[in-house]
Amino acid sequence: MKLPYAEPFRIKVVEPLRTSTKEERAKWIEDAHFNLFNLRSEQVFIDLLTDSGTGSMSSHQWAEMMLGDESYAGASSFYKLKETIEELLGFPYMLPTHQGRAAENVLFSAIIGKDGTGKVVPGNSHFDTTKGHIEFRNARAIDCTIDEAFDTTIDHPFKGNIDLEKLEKVFKQYDRENIPMCIITVTCNTSGGQPVSMQNIKDVSALCKKYGITVIFDAARFAENAYFIKIREEGYQDKTIKEIVREMFSHVDGCTMSAKKDGIVNMGGFIGLNSKELYEKASVFNIVFEGYLTYGGMTGRDMGALAVGLKEATEYDYLEQRVGQVAYLGRMLRDYGIPVQEPFGGHAIFVDAKRFLTKVPKEEFIAQTLGVELYIEGGVRGVEIGTLLADRDPDTRENRYPDLELLRLAIGRRLYTDSHMEYIAAALKNVYDRRDEITKGLKIVKEAPIMRHFTVELERA
Ligand code: F0G
Repeated sequence: MKLPYAEPFRIKVVEPLRTSTKEERAKWIEDAHFNLFNLRSEQVFIDLLTDSGTGSMSSHQWAEMMLGDESYAGASSFYKLKETIEELLGFPYMLPTHQGRAAENVLFSAIIGKDGTGKVVPGNSHFDTTKGHIEFRNARAIDCTIDEAFDTTIDHPFKGNIDLEKLEKVFKQYDRENIPMCIITVTCNTSGGQPVSMQNIKDVSALCKKYGITVIFDAARFAENAYFIKIREEGYQDKTIKEIVREMFSHVDGCTMSAKKDGIVNMGGFIGLNSKELYEKASVFNIVFEGYLTYGGMTGRDMGALAVGLKEATEYDYLEQRVGQVAYLGRMLRDYGIPVQEPFGGHAIFVDAKRFLTKVPKEEFIAQTLGVELYIEGGVRGVEIGTLLADRDPDTRENRYPDLELLRLAIGRRLYTDSHMEYIAAALKNVYDRRDEITKGLKIVKEAPIMRHFTVELERA
């Protein structure tokens, strides 16, 4: 028989987890104003808040930490990272930053400028920090994701794809100088960790070329995207992940990267670019916001560990287990009858909260309510990808109600075992069994003017 995947690693160091009772958790979440970000990590048993910066580094990465060169300028660790990025992604120019949003800040300062009034940035669904950095500059993000992405019951292999007609409409509606770039997020976190096909990357790139628009990857989960291309797209089965990655990046002008995801490090990011001119423009902002060009917000040891992490994340065996474990959780939930986004995403399972808690009104933050229930049930912390995250419209200040109201269960890289997946599925099943009793949600007591989900305070409605 075909052998199943098994973790292509064994465990050398373990980190104990603290268990708690339902009563303790009910009190803690109330004290935390029903905001899962406000919990202390010891109050959480299995933490699925994010797959960002939470992965386990390998022995090779830890060994590289000791080789870290902490020179202010010209550190050998910088060159290790620069050469790895050029070899894997093909970019001759690179700027290190402390994380993904810092890369956005630096690059968007160069591309959009200080005041982007009247400008638009189309793409598939932008991540919230990406949208935040666009809106912070008074520009607007335009979501051109295919419609299939917003129906969790439709099975489509590449729900991260951009709808070319929607994109061309934007190109025709706005002048070229008001479209500083098009961003393709691989995989598309906001639409459910869904991949973009190579064909779509090629088509978007060709359309952008026709209109003279720069194409940028938000590359946080580029390796998982490459894995989906290999297993789902015609003609890529026999290519290695590294070949697919090289081909993906050959179609774009640059990238911003949150290395906390597919770099398998706890902190870090970078900008990769083909254009020397754009690199020089962005360099000025890197020095102002991040640090000197050869460290920009990262230590030498972190840059070394990232160079190794990028190579490990683009290995087939690693990705097969990584994406396989996420799918294992997804299949268990589906078998329990729980509505989940399908096909399963690369880094997380997205629970369709609207179809799960049908009695909670949309004004009462359905996915957040589900997140609170799952936490009380089993000490499992997910995160809301719904109305809280969608924030208010910057023009009307009204709540934006996204098509999808999701509870994201993000799985850290090389972090939890398949037994943890079984525990998570059982906890959510228990909530599902009592779903009809949950008729009330939450209401906002206090919120910030932008990116409110991190600090919002809520009470029971
Ligand atoms: N782009 C994408 C697609 C992301 O998912 C994130 C972060 C960022 C950019 C920003 O990177 O956190 O390093 O500044 N996503 C995390 C998440 C926070 O939980 O999905 P960052």
